[in-house]
Amino acid sequence: MSEHELSYDHQPRAQWKSHIGFILAAIGSAVGLGNIWRFSYLCYKNGGGAFLVPYIIALVVVGIPLMTLELGVGHKMRGSSPLSFARINRKWEWCGWWAVICAMFGIMLYYSVVIAWCLNYVFFSFSLAWGEDPNGFFFGEYLKLSDGPFNLGSISIPILGALLAVWFLCWVVVYYGVEKGVERANKIFMPLLLVLILVLVGWSVNLEGAAKGIAVYLTPDFSLLSQPHIWIDAFSQIFFTLSLAFGIMIVYASYLPRKANLAKDAVIIAIGNSLFSLVAGFAVFGTLGYMATIKGVEVSEVVKESIGLAFVAYPQAISLMPNFAEVFGVIFFVSLVIAGLSSGVSLVEAFSSAMIDKYGFQRKTVVTFTCVIGFLGSLVFATQGGLFWLDIVDHFITHYELVIIGLLECLVIGWVLKAEVLRQYMDDVSSTNLPKIWDFCVKIMVPVVLVVLLVNDLKTEFAEPYEGYPVSALVFLGVGWPLVGLIASIIISKAPWVRESPDYEI
Ligand code: PFF
Repeated sequence: MSEHELSYDHQPRAQWKSHIGFILAAIGSAVGLGNIWRFSYLCYKNGGGAFLVPYIIALVVVGIPLMTLELGVGHKMRGSSPLSFARINRKWEWCGWWAVICAMFGIMLYYSVVIAWCLNYVFFSFSLAWGEDPNGFFFGEYLKLSDGPFNLGSISIPILGALLAVWFLCWVVVYYGVEKGVERANKIFMPLLLVLILVLVGWSVNLEGAAKGIAVYLTPDFSLLSQPHIWIDAFSQIFFTLSLAFGIMIVYASYLPRKANLAKDAVIIAIGNSLFSLVAGFAVFGTLGYMATIKGVEVSEVVKESIGLAFVAYPQAISLMPNFAEVFGVIFFVSLVIAGLSSGVSLVEAFSSAMIDKYGFQRKTVVTFTCVIGFLGSLVFATQGGLFWLDIVDHFITHYELVIIGLLECLVIGWVLKAEVLRQYMDDVSSTNLPKIWDFCVKIMVPVVLVVLLVNDLKTEFAEPYEGYPVSALVFLGVGWPLVGLIASIIISKAPWVRESPDYEI
């Protein structure tokens, strides 16, 4: 028996009850608000069907190889992201922490607020509370948006209540552990979400003028492909949508049994997630086409900005529905809540499992503590200035931090652990073999693509301040936030491991 197997046996780890439970949980993490609201908006903004070209290229070139890498390393190292990196080499443990800290205290803090808005909108749908002016309702009456990121104002009671509910639900699921909590919840969430989305698609495509919207979705404007920002959007969307670089897929794979078809699973998760986005796109564009027809305008004129797609354009379209508008609204927002919760749960799990591995804390204590801190931290995004914070933090995390962590993953795993070693390992534990070209992808191709992406992104960043925000706000939130996370990661990585020993030979 090899040293690894000895180590595994000595360190019993939670396990998925079934393989399908793992696949559903991983797809549950991947399929989120981003698939419905972000993906459709990006298609809308970037030349309709033309966006699908860089999107699919990004999926194949970066998405699937990185997904395979994360599943492989989590499975081999049998640990959360920090433990896995520490087992590669203690020097790199901070990378693992940076991923989960960024997931929990970057993404999840604002992601939970967007889920909370969706939850409020489920209730607003019953009475179509946004009335004749969804724009004024959302930004004015509901968010009471302040005049800038430095004016936070107060928090309204409905948002606070919904936010509490979101954190409570995440807490319950993660509290009960991998099998009884995360797996069980996703076995309910995912089939339910699929049914709801199919109902929405069926409903939307039959609306008058839906074809007009779907034509925009599927007719590519290839002239836009020469613009670098489309490629940047596509690659960062792939990271975000596949929940890559947050340490989630690493920890989810660490709960798999010894025999696992990791490469096949990576393809199933990645394709399942993208198919979901593509299908949801029909519902969104069908509805936009309907709205444009009723209002007698072009489809390109009905949405102004990304957040507006879900909370302004969609409510407006719902109000214009000929029949059962309220039901349509409830189904749409319930779908968003379910999609968001299954992703939120994975973000909390990634961080909690890291703390459990490192300090040997009880799961229940860690999860409770994490969710309380998370709730308190998310309050800032729920204030009147919260939308500005959300916009800035989201932009910088998804455009830079994720790409940098993805790059670090490739370099550390590709060159320090060695891609060949990980591929050999994956071949040993699965019934299929990973093509050798994967080594090249991980060691050279993906890093080169990510560096090109970063450089181009930085060029746009320096050309003009993002969305015209004050530079001080961009530096404070966009650079300061991830930097604090990085410093915290380095400090934590210096502390000794209490429970799991990362120090075994690889
Ligand atoms: N993949 C989710 C989405 O597309 O909405 C978002 C997400 C989940 C991002 C989990 C990050 C994450 F770790």
